[in-house]
Amino acid sequence: MSDKNIILVGIMGSGKTTISKLIAQKLNRPLIDMDDYIVAKFQMTIDEMFNINENYFRDKETACCKDMAKLTGHVISTGGGVIKRKENVALLKQNGIIFYLDRPIPLIVEDVETSTRPLIKEGAYKLYRLDEERRQLYLDACDYHIINDSSLEEVTNTIINKIGAR
Ligand code: S3P
Repeated sequence: MSDKNIILVGIMGSGKTTISKLIAQKLNRPLIDMDDYIVAKFQMTIDEMFNINENYFRDKETACCKDMAKLTGHVISTGGGVIKRKENVALLKQNGIIFYLDRPIPLIVEDVETSTRPLIKEGAYKLYRLDEERRQLYLDACDYHIINDSSLEEVTNTIINKIGAR
């Protein structure tokens, strides 16, 4: 099995956090949630960074992608906007296999808490707009496109099987 990092990308609410935890448990690999990593590294909340401006947060995110490029064998759950910079994708790919977790927006709207996420505080419609803006970026970035509309167990196993085949 490849010891490259297993990297999950996708829109917020697509299941990256939950599924990355399951993959890490099953494969007994260390897990990094990049949002948590950014907050710990810079000792600021994501809201505080966005309140300065989005670019401020994106620069911190890029700095963390540089850290990720040095790792092997980790499971890494990224923030939904990481694909906005080509530089980030190149860094993540250096040592990682990228999975685009694609959860149909109506399913995300059913289960996500929209009020606590800075970019979708305005409402669920924002998710549809982000999906439109970013879908092609996710598709361009990924090694595998995984539709997340079945059970967590099934999606987790699909990803693990792809890694196993490499
Ligand atoms: C963002 C998604 C968030 C977080 C930040 C920006 C985005 O992560 O990185 O609020 O641009 O889509 P999640 O996808 O984990 O919610």
